[in-house]
Amino acid sequence: MRLPNKVAIITGASSGMGRVTAYLFAKEGAKVAVADVNDTGGEETVSNIKANGGEAIFVHTDVSSATDVQNLVKETVKNLAVSTSFSIMPVKVENVPL
Ligand SMILES: NC(=O)c1ccc[n+]([C@@H]2O[C@H](COP(=O)([O-])OP(=O)(O)OC[C@H]3O[C@@H](n4cnc5c(N)ncnc54)[C@H](O)[C@@H]3O)[C@@H](O)[C@H]2O)c1
Repeated sequence: MRLPNKVAIITGASSGMGRVTAYLFAKEGAKVAVADVNDTGGEETVSNIKANGGEAIFVHTDVSSATDVQNLVKETVKNLAVSTSFSIMPVKVENVPL
C-alpha cells in the first residue's frame, strides 16, 4: 500500500474519474472524503469503499461554495483525521477544480 496514514479529499467523487480515484486511493490505504453535489452517487462510492475494507465518508459539497468547502475540511478532520496515527495533512485531489 502506498498511502497508509493519509487522508484524501477527492472532489467530484460521486462518479467518473473522481470515483475511480477514490477507489484507487482507498485501495492504497488512504482514508477518503468523498465530496460532491450528487448525494446518491457519493453514498454509493462510500459504500463500495467500505465493502472492500476501506474507510470513507461522504460530505455534500458544492466546490463553488466557500462555506461548503470549509465544511468539507472540517468534517474530514473531524471524522477521518482524529487518530494520532494518521496524518492530518490531507492529500487533496481536485477532480472538480475549486
Ligand atoms: N472523462 C475524461 O476523459 C476527461 C478528460 C479530461 C478532463 N476531464 C475532466 O475531468 C473532470 C471529471 O470528468 P468525469 O468524466 O469523471 O466527469 P463526471 O461527470 O463523471 O464526474 C464529475 C463529478 O463532479 C461532480 N460535480 C459537478 N459539479 C460539482 C460541484 N460544483 N461541486 C462538487 N461536485 C461537482 C458531479 O456531480 C460528478 O459526480 C471534468 O472536469 C472533466 O471535464 C475528463
